[in-house]
Amino acid sequence: MQHITKAVFPVAGLGTRFLPATKAQPKEMLPVVDKPLIQYAIEEAYDAGIREMIFITGRTKRPIEDHFDMAYELETELQAAGKLELLKVVQSIKPEDMECVFIRQPKMLGLGHAVLCAQQLINGDPFAVLLADDLMVGEKPIMKQMVEQFAEWRASIIAVQEVPPEHTKRYGIVGGTHVRDRLVDVAKIVEKPAPEEAPSNLGVAGRYILTPGVLDEIRMQPKGVGGEIQLTDGIAGMLRREKVFAYCYEGKRYDCGSKEGFLQASVELALAHPQLGPGFRDYLKNLEL
Ligand code: UTP
Repeated sequence: MQHITKAVFPVAGLGTRFLPATKAQPKEMLPVVDKPLIQYAIEEAYDAGIREMIFITGRTKRPIEDHFDMAYELETELQAAGKLELLKVVQSIKPEDMECVFIRQPKMLGLGHAVLCAQQLINGDPFAVLLADDLMVGEKPIMKQMVEQFAEWRASIIAVQEVPPEHTKRYGIVGGTHVRDRLVDVAKIVEKPAPEEAPSNLGVAGRYILTPGVLDEIRMQPKGVGGEIQLTDGIAGMLRREKVFAYCYEGKRYDCGSKEGFLQASVELALAHPQLGPGFRDYLKNLEL
């Protein structure tokens, strides 16, 4: 059986919604509690059995490379000071059996184009795509849920959630027929439709498992919404030849590309943190709101 072994992390975007914080640092390095966003996404992929992590980067994204590189001086200092717990924390960022590859997206032509930059490494295999600014939390990690769906259906799986009708313009929206609880056989996918044009209220979240055929489709796409080469349009093209399923994941998504979503994630993950949670809860209770 073919497993999902590769994941693409498009991290080349400008992050304009989070300015000024993202002027000189990648939004994927913004920490929620004590970990940068990109680390949450990498851990989610790793927990799903994925070991080859392909980052699509751009200018100002060096801190991401550094974060997943060995920090020789830091590790030597922590070792010498006997701070072995912290040393373990630092070393666990990149487990030994995990490989990180960095590819530059020369021009920010859109998410579809970013994914296309990984084509050589994808090499004809099905692969995952994770957008780190969507922080996803589930009792079972969301990508693991999706890998299980892929194992059953052997077809592309797109994570979706119900969105308020007035928010369809923020998402790719899918339409189709329910084949069972949580699973829709996709007949249509549209990028950022107006509410009256949306085929449903199922919005795409930043997690995908795609068959390699999507890459040929992306290459044939003209520029789409916002003048960008859209992943959604590539998936729409694929629908003519292959089955694609939308999967209503079990869990919660925080849009950490927006300031509101980032604040919500910070509060909720701090409350759920085993060490910080109880004290932070007391702090919030005593706040005069
Ligand atoms: P967004 O639509 O969130 O764009 O991209 P952005 O530039 O990151 O953020 P805003 O809207 O300006 O605040 C969705 C994902 O696609 C990646 C981004 O890094 C993000 O993870 N992306 C987008 C690329 O890697 N390359 C692109 O050309 C466009």
